This record gives sequence, structure tokens and C-alpha cells, in this order.
Amino acid sequence: MKKKFLNLLKQPITNSYLSSINKSNTKNEYFYNLSVIFNTQNFLVSLSKPVDPKKQYTDKYAHRASQSFTMRQSFKSVANKLKSRFRPNFSMEIGSNDGVFLKNFKKNKIVAVEPCLNLAKITKKLGYKTYPNFWNRKLVNKILKEKSNFDLIYSANTISHIPNLKETFDAIYKSLNDNGVFVFEDPYMGSVIKMNSYDQFYDEHVHIFSLIAISNILKKSKLKVFDVELLQTHGGSTRFYVCKENAKYSINKSVKNLKSKELKQGLHKLSTYTKFASRVKKSKYELLELLKELKKKSKKVVSYGATYKSATIFNYCNIGNDLINYVLDSTKNKQGKFTPGKHILIKPSNNGIPEDVDYAFLGAWNFLKEIKKKEQKFLKRGGKFITHVPKIKIISL
Ligand code: TMP
Repeated sequence: MKKKFLNLLKQPITNSYLSSINKSNTKNEYFYNLSVIFNTQNFLVSLSKPVDPKKQYTDKYAHRASQSFTMRQSFKSVANKLKSRFRPNFSMEIGSNDGVFLKNFKKNKIVAVEPCLNLAKITKKLGYKTYPNFWNRKLVNKILKEKSNFDLIYSANTISHIPNLKETFDAIYKSLNDNGVFVFEDPYMGSVIKMNSYDQFYDEHVHIFSLIAISNILKKSKLKVFDVELLQTHGGSTRFYVCKENAKYSINKSVKNLKSKELKQGLHKLSTYTKFASRVKKSKYELLELLKELKKKSKKVVSYGATYKSATIFNYCNIGNDLINYVLDSTKNKQGKFTPGKHILIKPSNNGIPEDVDYAFLGAWNFLKEIKKKEQKFLKRGGKFITHVPKIKIISL
């Protein structure tokens, strides 16, 4: 049975930054109701009504996976690790974005799948065979006609974006060699509960995975998890190592360990999620209280990182220009635009947080370490960060 446990209210498509806020732009902005459900049979957490992917993954897709130093390092290190552990002869990446992972492979050793045409163009230009399509049964038939089966398939922050997981995993099964390996990583439900990071829910995160849920779902496509890692990326992610049921890999201890940890955390129980939903309401209340108090004291507050996560927070908490002056972001194609739903101006973060800013809300809280390092000047002159994870707090030097 599917049980609704969280209502994050009316939300826009997080990737749709507005170039100006004239009447026709705001009138045409698409909103949907963001609510989250728990499947009591397979333990999967999903959005109750996913947005049509064709509305999301367009040729205007703004996110660039290579934007932060942390992510560039992380993709390089996982590419090297996978190459030395599995020695793949032929690989594929699903959701290759701007090629930050792909670049670590030779051009004839890997193919890319990327439905956003602006991004697919980037990897094509770099010389990688790129399929500008959504990952599905039809695409697999096309790829397998042109290429051989794969030793390694990798996907980061993409599988959780796809509504139909059965078709997705059946297509993976079909594409892998008998001992081929599918490695995918996405935000982790265990971390969302622990960190109270409800902002991991937005239109693109159709599902947030746990090991117990993924194991149940993979079984239906004759696949299994044989290893798993917990990662710091994106505020807590899991990297699943998957093979066919009859493949040569034996199941690593890490799988048993994480399963028992999840059962202890209660990721199989509805009550865990309803309690989480109460904490989310409290977080909203406390954040609004804090921002209103700072406003009363005439403090200048901005937000750091025009993230999809902060779109969820601002729209759920009804935080607009009245409470946040503007948003800083290093991504060129976000700068000068306005955030979805609440229409806050995005300015370049490249020269650091301006002198007159007192507080910066961490829209990119998952990069706190990197941001703190960059913004030493801000902290040294008494500037403070605000975060909502794991609870509302102020961070100073
Ligand atoms: P993400 O959490 O979806 O990867 O988005 C992070 C956003 O934060 C991205 O738009 C880049 C921005 N950002 C900065 O502007 N400055 C920084 O120092 C970091 C780490 C990220």
C-alpha cells in the first residue's frame, strides 16, 4: 500500500530559472503539488505524482555536474576506482551531464546517454558517442543493435529521477554482460531521515532510495546488490554495486551491515516517515522565525547556491525577496536569472560574499566544507551562515 506522509505544497520545476519576471513568464510558470509517499510493501519512498520528464530534461537544463571542485574530484576518483576494480573493456554512462565522469575514460571505451540536448552536445563535441535520449527499453534495443553488451554501466544522480524503475532495471539487465556490473549512486533515504534534509525532495528526485527498497525492486528484474557504499556527496548518498542474480560476485559484508542498520533506523516502518514529517514542519517554523527576526534587526541575508534543494525550501516555507535579498551562485547560466517559484535574483558568487552581507543561508549545505574554505574573508569579518540541517542553526568562525 502507498501511504502519503509529507506534503511540501505547491512547487515549480526546480530547473526552470526565469530570465525575467514579467507577467507572461510568471503566468506560464508550471506548478504541481509535491507530496511524498511510502510503499509499505517494497519500502520505496517516491513522489506521489511525478512531473512529465519531457518538461524537466530539456535543452535548457541548467545543472552542470562539474561545477564544484568536490564533485570533480569525486567523479575522477570513482572512475579510477571502477576501472581498477572491474577492468571494463566497454562501459556506458546513463545521465552523463557535462561529461565530468566520462572524461576519465578513453573515447572508444565508453558511450553516453543524456536526454538534455544542450548537455549531450557537450560530450559529443568532446568526441564521445552520445545518445541524446531517455533511458528506456526502446533506446536499449537501438544501442544493442549498434554496440555490444556492457561490462560496466555507471549512473550518478539519474536513476532516482526515472519514474518507471521496472523498465529501467529490465533495460539494465538486457544491456549487461553475464558478469557485467551496474554501479549507481543517488541520495540516501537514511541520510534524509538523519539530517532532516527534506529539501532532497523536488521534482527531479522521483524516488529516494534505501538498500532495503532497492533490493526488493531489483529482484523483480533478476538483479541483486553485491556491494554498497555510503558517500558524503549530495548530503549523503549510496553507491550500489549491482549484478545479475547468477553473476560471479559474492555478496559483500557491507550489504548485510547496511540492511541491519536500516532496520534499526526503521526505514521499513511508516511511523519513521510520519515522525520525520513532523520534524519538517518544525524546521519550517523555526527557519521562518529566524529570518523574520533578522529582518526586524535590519540584517542583510542572502542565500548561497541556487540549488534545486533551496527551491523546495523557499517554496514550502514561502520565503521570497522579503526575507532573502538575492541568491549567489557560480554557475554562469543561472546568473542574472530568477529562482523558480519565489523569483529571487541570482548573482555571481565568484568574487565571494559581498561586504554588506550579514548572513548567508546555505542552499548548497552539502558543500559546506568547500564554501567555508572559499568564504574565509566573510567569516573573519563576522559573517555567518544559516543552515537547516540537521536543524536550524547559525554557523560562524
Ligand atoms: P547541487 O547541490 O545541485 O550540486 O548544486 C550546487 C549549486 O551551488 C550549483 O549551482 C553551484 C553552486 N555553488 C556555488 O555557487 N559556489 C560554491 O562554492 C559551490 C560549492 C556551489
